Amino acid sequence: MPARAEGPAGFEAVGSVAVRTFAAHRSHRISGVTQPAHQSMDGHHVNAMAGEGSGAPHNHFADYDELPDGHFYDPDAEYEPDPEYAATLAPDAARQRRERIGPTGRPLPYFPIPGPLTDHGPAKIIAMCNQKGGVGKTTSTINLGAALAEYGRRVLLVDFDPQGALSVGLGVNPMELDLTVYNLLMERGMAADEVLLKTAVPNMDLLPSNIDLSAAEVQLVSEVARESTLQRALKPLMADYDYIVIDCQPSLGLLTVNALTAAHKVIVPLECEFFALRGVALLTETIEKVQERLNPDLELDGILATMYDSRTVHSREVLARVVEAFDDHVYHTVIGRTVRFPETTVAGEPITTYASNSVGAAAYRQLAREVLARCHAE
Ligand SMILES: Nc1ncnc2c1ncn2[C@@H]1O[C@H](COP(=O)(O)OP(=O)(O)O)[C@@H](O)[C@H]1O
Ligand SMILES: [Mg+2]
Repeated sequence: MPARAEGPAGFEAVGSVAVRTFAAHRSHRISGVTQPAHQSMDGHHVNAMAGEGSGAPHNHFADYDELPDGHFYDPDAEYEPDPEYAATLAPDAARQRRERIGPTGRPLPYFPIPGPLTDHGPAKIIAMCNQKGGVGKTTSTINLGAALAEYGRRVLLVDFDPQGALSVGLGVNPMELDLTVYNLLMERGMAADEVLLKTAVPNMDLLPSNIDLSAAEVQLVSEVARESTLQRALKPLMADYDYIVIDCQPSLGLLTVNALTAAHKVIVPLECEFFALRGVALLTETIEKVQERLNPDLELDGILATMYDSRTVHSREVLARVVEAFDDHVYHTVIGRTVRFPETTVAGEPITTYASNSVGAAAYRQLAREVLARCHAE
């Protein structure tokens, strides 16, 4: 079990934890690219699977797809990411300043570890948006939020999906909630404090949701200024937070339009898979419409490539296409694929505390630094 971060870690400590991470990972690294699968599968990889306890003999290799070069990979297996990829996430200035090409094929800029804040707010509101499901919206909301909170930012996460996955991912049972973001939207005079939950992460709060929110989509239709209902609900909270991150549902319906109307920035997670770009035109069109008609301040801050597997040509090609299409809008930070993320959902906590030293945690810390750097550049 990895060591857990306790309390609001100091900034230097955050950095040094991650630096140690890479040293530790180097020492027992397994490379899936440079060695044939049967060699790379020796050692703790196979042991980990044997530990699953079925006892029955199992041909692991039957589960692996053969790559064109005769190597094998299992997209769902926990593996140590490509050291090249892991090295791009190093948070220490010395290594970051070195001229290096990041996973997106562009030189990787230096994202400094942010200094502490003396006062907080007004909040920047970020909508995590893609009408496709399973691209990493919820995972990115939780972990970007947690990483920003680790860097001393006050963060509010808004679960704006009736499925309540964000709430579940933070250890909340949505079915047991009496008050949710639904009540905040639909009941005039409802105070946000009554709905707000503290999370286990210092500096990070949650506006939870559950299936009740699906009724709002219908009920809002007859409201006056229905698109700006969430914006009005969040207004009193803006002074208390530095970042509010809204986890959108997988549709471009009225709830998502509410999130875009409330937001200053949109982050679009894209899975590094063949159909990643399908539907993105519709999404950018929706963003532009909201910009024109409802929220002139809205900006597409970035496209976030998720579930990247640097060992596969396919992942690298998809990422190259995404960069070709969106250029500077693509974050330099790329989130690798690892089962650590599904595990965190079961654990009900962010990867930054569940596996603080993991490459996944380092990736979301770098994303937080990149988002902060972009905000400061304005
Ligand atoms: N980088 C990643 N590597 C591996 N699995 C991931 C990664 N990011 C997310 N997942 C998993 O993929 C599934 C979908 O992710 P999620 O964040 O819920 O997407 P969305 O909110 O867009 O539907 C979840 O089971 C999640 O744990
Ligand atoms: Mg989700």
